[in-house]
Amino acid sequence: MNSLMTDPVAGVLDRLLAEAELADRELHAGFADGTYSVRQMLEEDAADFKGLCRDQVDYFLSIAPDLGRFLYMCARANRATRIVEFGTSFGVSTIYLAAAVRDNGAGRVITTELEPGKAERARRNLAAAGLDDLVDVRVGDALDTLRSGVETGVDLVLLDGAYHLYLPVLKLLEPRLAPGALIVADNALDLDGEYLDHVRNPANGYLTVPLPFHPERGNNLSLFTGR
Ligand SMILES: C[S@@+](CC[C@H](N)C(=O)[O-])C[C@H]1O[C@@H](n2cnc3c(N)ncnc32)[C@H](O)[C@@H]1O
Repeated sequence: MNSLMTDPVAGVLDRLLAEAELADRELHAGFADGTYSVRQMLEEDAADFKGLCRDQVDYFLSIAPDLGRFLYMCARANRATRIVEFGTSFGVSTIYLAAAVRDNGAGRVITTELEPGKAERARRNLAAAGLDDLVDVRVGDALDTLRSGVETGVDLVLLDGAYHLYLPVLKLLEPRLAPGALIVADNALDLDGEYLDHVRNPANGYLTVPLPFHPERGNNLSLFTGR
């Protein structure tokens, strides 16, 4: 069973990735010619993440397809049934995660997005992919929306929202992580080092490696070994 490669999921992902390419062209051109950088974006995020989210409301900022397939593979390999995502945007990464839950036979993805308009589009995209019954899209700041209503035994977490909140969001989820849970963090660069220091320290119950996809974006995989 692999719903990623079959319609409706495959068709919706193709459409969304093409739309993302168009919508984010200017941003990617800035990254490519050096007028803008992921580092700069993360600094703006730390200074005023709500302002940055408003400024980026028309951008997809979606994960790259190879990272999406990797997430699907992780979720299938650890038979994830409880997945939490920080940073929904238009739902591209959510589709990869929910497709894995569908193919695992049971489960639910909780995802959270600050911008209500983005969350609404994500819901429509998930419905078009036939996955909306598996996803709980929560609107608001992740530090509020994930504070309750997350069952114990989370198998996989994707951190892809405001970077400076990765550590507080992870700490919020830590009591609910299953031993063996995987945490994938996009855009985790050594800015203040807080998040990476935490997940690189085995005393905190993690084993962490950088991922080879788009190293400039700072993708990392952590295994929660339990404490
Ligand atoms: C990089 S995008 C997510 C892309 C998405 N994971 C995908 O691959 O399609 C980050 C999103 O996180 C949202 N965000 C940022 N800070 C947030 C917060 N504190 N709580 C919830 N969402 C937040 C932004 O509005 C933005 O849409």
